[in-house]
Formats: sequence, structure tokens, C-alpha cells
Amino acid sequence: MMLSHPNNHDSFYYGTFPNGFSWGAGSSAYQTEGAWDKDGKGLSIWDVFTHKKGKTFLNDTGDSSCEGYYKIKDDISLMKELNLNHYRFSISWPRIMPTGIRSDHVNEKGVNYYNALIDELLEHNITPIVTLYHWDLPQVLQEKYGGWQNISMINYFNDFANLCFERYGDRVKYWITFNNPWSVAVEGYETGEHAPGLKLRGTGAYRAAHHIIKAHAKVWHTYDTQWRNKQRGMVGISLSGDWGEPVDITNQKDIEAAERYVQFYIGWFATPIFHGDYPQVMKDFIGRKSAQQGLGTSRLPTFSSQEKSYIKGTSDFLGVGHFTTHYITQKSFPSSRGYTYFSDWDVAELVDPRWPDPGSEWLYSVPWGFRRLLNFIKTQYGNPMIYITENGVSEKMMCTELCDDWRIQYYKAYINEMLKAIRDGVNVKGYTAWSLLDKFEWDEGYSERFGLYYVDFRNKNKPRYPKASVQFYKRIIRSNGFPNQREVENWRRKATETCSTSNQLLAAEEQRNTAANILRLIHDPLTSHMEMVTEVVVPTVCTLCILISAVFLMFLLRKRN
Ligand code: NOJ
Repeated sequence: MMLSHPNNHDSFYYGTFPNGFSWGAGSSAYQTEGAWDKDGKGLSIWDVFTHKKGKTFLNDTGDSSCEGYYKIKDDISLMKELNLNHYRFSISWPRIMPTGIRSDHVNEKGVNYYNALIDELLEHNITPIVTLYHWDLPQVLQEKYGGWQNISMINYFNDFANLCFERYGDRVKYWITFNNPWSVAVEGYETGEHAPGLKLRGTGAYRAAHHIIKAHAKVWHTYDTQWRNKQRGMVGISLSGDWGEPVDITNQKDIEAAERYVQFYIGWFATPIFHGDYPQVMKDFIGRKSAQQGLGTSRLPTFSSQEKSYIKGTSDFLGVGHFTTHYITQKSFPSSRGYTYFSDWDVAELVDPRWPDPGSEWLYSVPWGFRRLLNFIKTQYGNPMIYITENGVSEKMMCTELCDDWRIQYYKAYINEMLKAIRDGVNVKGYTAWSLLDKFEWDEGYSERFGLYYVDFRNKNKPRYPKASVQFYKRIIRSNGFPNQREVENWRRKATETCSTSNQLLAAEEQRNTAANILRLIHDPLTSHMEMVTEVVVPTVCTLCILISAVFLMFLLRKRN
């Protein structure tokens, strides 16, 4: 667990990335496209989930989100402003296969939307990195079969992937089968915080993950046998992993607990894909707890030896999404508390109160954890080729804020730790800032903004505005790293200088829009917001911000209770 390199937490390394290192930004279909029911698109589990009350912050939905579906050219001009080498996006399965089943119907209008996006990217020399599954399962497959609980998803997903290879594979050379299957399994089928919202504690996540791993392997083999020769692309998977550091590095129990945390997280998926089977520690722990429960077999499903060799080695590169780190200590869960994924691993997560937490509640800025995770991947999985598919930070503020100095600090430090990892010998080929735009943040709705570009969601045109971090990231890309201290400090100064003017302009613009909206609401007797807004005559942006933040706070408090 302890890495051999010294723990240089604070020292900054000036230097550049290898030639050809690829710089990008990312998005996903449901989070940005909007157009949820346009041009023949079918329903996804997220459309249905968000349309139920009480599932997301303020009942927000991705119905229109950033309207990315209508803004291919606008968004590519933002990518050009940043000088990106690649753009990572995902294909909405129900947009191109409305029921999820190929023999039912292929929606050519949906197919053509992605054709247009891919062509426009290539025209501007931006490499598309395409995710097949970023959580938006066709609703029909959930309703008819139970979604990822059902083994039949493997073939349906393979048909969908095959159609994508057939239609786009002449131009797309980087494929990601699944984005962050950990979330799909745990939040979709164990805790129910995400669509489809099932709470099958102790079993749901393991079963979903089992089918996802097999589906991934099948798609990799399909590409390998049917398309690779002709198309010469690569197929990988994108796994998310927080880093877990032992609270006390001299305590064997903490060391083992931290190891277990990482194995139950990224190892759950990476170990089968690189070595053919689940991590031993998962088999041991879940097996033992299942026996204690009186079950005849483990709640963790098993792979046959044929399946093991079929799954092993099915990733041409590994996509890594990483945001944060925790300190880990051993904690035994009494059986009276039930058997769940989170009690199976017998760990507790802690944070250092000094760690900055500018954005989402769970997101602490701990840059050195990134280097450790990358070194762990290198040693555990035979130094695979890595693309960072997600890394970034959000902001809690509901108010307009383009001067995102904390995001500059986060990117600067995390990208620097990645540079150190490359010097340690980790084979990282590219980096994807998460995300290009502010967007729908799943159960958190629009309350957490991850974008390099600010999106004014209250304006129906969804205009985009660069945050200061755009200026900073752009310069890292231009220099392919961090040339020297004087220059990097200059970048930061320049980036934050320009933003205050745009901040004021945007705030004034938003104020005008808010006033116009309020007037519209006052004249619309049907609106349910009437009572709330008639009290407020023409509020300033600040009073509005305070109001929104108060609602947000109340929501958080309610959630905690
Ligand atoms: C990982 C998910 O893949 C992505 O969709 C989400 O926006 C980020 N986490 C941040 O929460």
C-alpha cells in the first residue's frame, strides 16, 4: 500500500508533458443535451426518474439542460477557444434506439445528430472519445427486464454498441463502454439515489456490476473480432476511483482497510478486466458475511473459468475518473445493521478538516491522492495505458461566479500530481477536464456546477460564459504543462483579472432576465411560483442569491436528517 516515492505533498513540479499528450474536456448526453423527447428519442431511465417528484434537488430535470443538442457549433467553438485535442461525450442509447432493442427501431434522426457532432469535431481537429453508456438506459429495458439486474442486458448492449461501431467507427477511434459502473451499480441499484432508484441492498449492486462487466467484455470482443482490423480503434472502460489513504500508516488494520476500500471501489471492476476475477478481498469479505447471514452462497456472484478468461484483458486502455481522497480506518459493522455493500467492506471514511472543499459535499481537494491512485493502477494492473476521463471540481454557489480561483488551484495541483505520476512511470496519455459546461448534476440537479464555462440556465437560450479557469487551462494546454513559476503565476493573475468585468456584465444580464421573468410570472396566473415571487418586487441578484442559497441550505439540512 505505501508507495515508494516520498510524500511530497506540497512541492510543485515545473515541467512539461510528453509530446502528443492529449488535452480535453468532457460531457455526457443526459447531463447536457436536453431535447429529451425530440426527433424520435425514446425515454431513458433518467427521464422517468427525474419526472417523479422528490428525486432530485428542486425536482430539476435534464429536459432542456444546456440544449447541447442544438448547439454543436457553439460548443465546438468553445473547445477551439481552449485549443482542445479531444472531446469526450456520450451517446444516448434511447436517442438512437428508442426502446433499446435494435430490431424494434433505429432512429435515424438520432443517429444523425451524433454524425453531425463527430464530423464537426473532426473538421476542427478535435478527436472524439465516445462513451457508449453514461447511465441513460432505455426505460423499456428497465421496465421489461429490470435493467442491469437482468442478464439479457448483455446482448442488448452489445447490439447497441455494434450499431455505434457500424455507424461511427469509421471516424471514432476511442470507445469507452461504460462510464463509472460503480455509480450505476451502487447508486442505481443499492442506495437508489440515482435512476432507476432501486434499493436492493446487499445484492443489487453486485448483480448489476456482474452483468456490466460481462457486457463490457462482450463488446470488447465484438470490436476485436468484427471491427478492429478495419477501423483500428481502441475500446476501454472508464472507472471512477477515490483514493483511500490509511489514517495511521503504522497501523496494519488501517493499512488493510485502505487497501480494501480501493479494491471495493476501482478494483471491483479493474481486477476482473485485467486479471479475470474479483479482488480476493471482496470474495473473502462478502463470502464470510453471506455465510454469517446464513446464505448458502456468496452475495458476490462468481465467474466460471471460461468467463474469467473471456473477461481478462478486455481493455485497450483504462479510463480513469478521479475527484477526491479519503482517510480510511477499519470499522466493523454489527450484523444487526443489515448487510449492504457499504457494511461489507468494514471501513470508515474520514476527512482532514484542513482539506479545501469548495464544491460538492463529497469533494475535497487532495491532489496527492491522484498520484497515489495512478501509481496503484500502474502496479496492480500491469501499467496499462491510461486516459483521465474525468477530473475537476464544482462550486456550491448558486450565484453567478466566473472568478473561480479555487478551480484554478484545483486543476493546477491535480494536473501537477498527474505530471509527477507520469515521471513515476505511469502511462497516462491524456487528460479530460470535467466538465466543459455547467450541466445537470444527477440527483443534485443544477445546484453543483462543474463547468469551465458557466451556463445561465434561467435564460432559455442557455448562453455560455467562460470562467477564469478557461484562461488558465488554455495556457496549460498551450504550454503542454507548467514552464516555470513566474509564468504560471502570471497565468493565474491574468485569468482572475479579466473575469471580474465579465462577472459584473453577466450579473447585470441575469438581473435583467430575472426581472423580466418575474414580470412574466406575475402576469401568468397559472404559475405555481406566484406566491413566492409576488412578495419580491424587483430583487437584486444578491437578494435572489441569498434566497436561493437559503432554499439550498434547507434542502441539505432535510437531506441530512
Ligand atoms: C462522475 C460522473 O461520471 C459524472 O457524470 C459526474 O458529473 C461527476 N462524477 C461529478 O459528480
